[in-house]
Formats: sequence, structure tokens, C-alpha cells
Amino acid sequence: MLKVVVFVSGGGTNLKAILDAVEEGRITNACVSAVISNNKNAYALERAKKHGIDAICISPKEFESREEFNRAFLVRVKELAPDLIVLAGFLVVLPETLIREYQNRIINIHPSLIPSFCGKGYYGLKVHEAALSRGVKVTGATVHFVDEGTDTGPILLQKAVKVEDGDTPELLQRRVMEQAEWVLLPQAIDLIANGKVSVADGHAVIAE
Ligand code: GRF
Repeated sequence: MLKVVVFVSGGGTNLKAILDAVEEGRITNACVSAVISNNKNAYALERAKKHGIDAICISPKEFESREEFNRAFLVRVKELAPDLIVLAGFLVVLPETLIREYQNRIINIHPSLIPSFCGKGYYGLKVHEAALSRGVKVTGATVHFVDEGTDTGPILLQKAVKVEDGDTPELLQRRVMEQAEWVLLPQAIDLIANGKVSVADGHAVIAE
């Protein structure tokens, strides 16, 4: 059974999609053992508690320096002994030591088709604002493994979503979530939990 720890900062609709998929059997061989947030007001923490899942808040603001936060954060994560870490709207830059220790065991969901509209500064609504201002006809979401860069790790899954006439960033964000993010993230976890994913030479490969 794959032990999954989900990192969140906000509403946690992606977390909900994961928990629903576990309950409905669309994710097998995996359980969410804990949810970590940097923001004590994140509704995602309430969602975790409602499901009887350990909900932990650890914020850089509680520490005198970033180094101290990074050290404490790594200790806390290691205590949870995750097999897989899922970043589901986590807005804190991960300590490099954590990324190295959990190489190919951290995935992130990004609300665009990487390499478009990704990297530093592209988060939340900004991604969809940029897609609309460029005038793309298709956008989407990407699940990728996390490396030391921003949105640069091996791509695991992508799904395209149409941009419609009259879209606002908010409307597009919602459609990308419904049609792509909430589908891809549970699918990625299920594939990993069932031993279908390997990473070699910077590419993720899915077994038939
Ligand atoms: C999602 O759009 C995700 O792609 C991005 O942050 C948002 C998180 O939303 N990384 P939620 O907290 O899962 O509702």
C-alpha cells in the first residue's frame, strides 16, 4: 500500500479529487496518510480532518529563518515516512534537501500544458491570465515529477482543455480543474501505486 502525503496551501479541491478517488476505488493500493499545509486557514486541512486524516500545519512564518523552517519541515516529513509526496496547490518552494531525498517520489499538478505558462511566477490565476492574453485555443494541465527547477521535472500526464470564447481567467481555471486536474492527479497516483511508472533519463514512462 503506497503511503501518500499531500501538501496543500489553499482550498484543496485537488485533495478532494484524490480522497474521492480513493473512496470510490479509482485509486487502488494507496492511502492518504497525512496532509501538510503552510497555511493554517487552508480549507484543505478541514477536508483532511473530515476524512479522519492527520492534518498538519507548518509555516515558514513560525521560524526565524528559511533554513530553520527547511530543517524542521524535512524532519516532519521524514517522520511521516511517505512513499509518495503529492503537491496539490502547495505554494512554498520545497527545500532542495527534500527534493533530493525524495527524487522521483514527488509529483506536482500544474494548470497548463508544460512547457507553456510555467516556471517562476506562473501560479494560480496568473497561469490562466497568461494563456488568455497569448490567445491560445487549447490549454490544460500537467502532472510532473518534481526536480530542483520550477516545473522542469519529468512529465507524467497531460490533458488538453479548450479555451472558449468569452473565457475569463476564473472560468478557464474552473474548466481546467474540472476537465483536467481532478482527472489527472488521481490517475497519476493510481499508476504510481500500481507500479506502472518508471523514470529514466529525465523521462517518465508508463507501462501498458
Ligand atoms: C490548482 O489550480 C493547481 O493546479 C495549482 O493550485 C491550484 C490548487 O487548487 N497548483 P486547490 O487547492 O486544489 O483547490
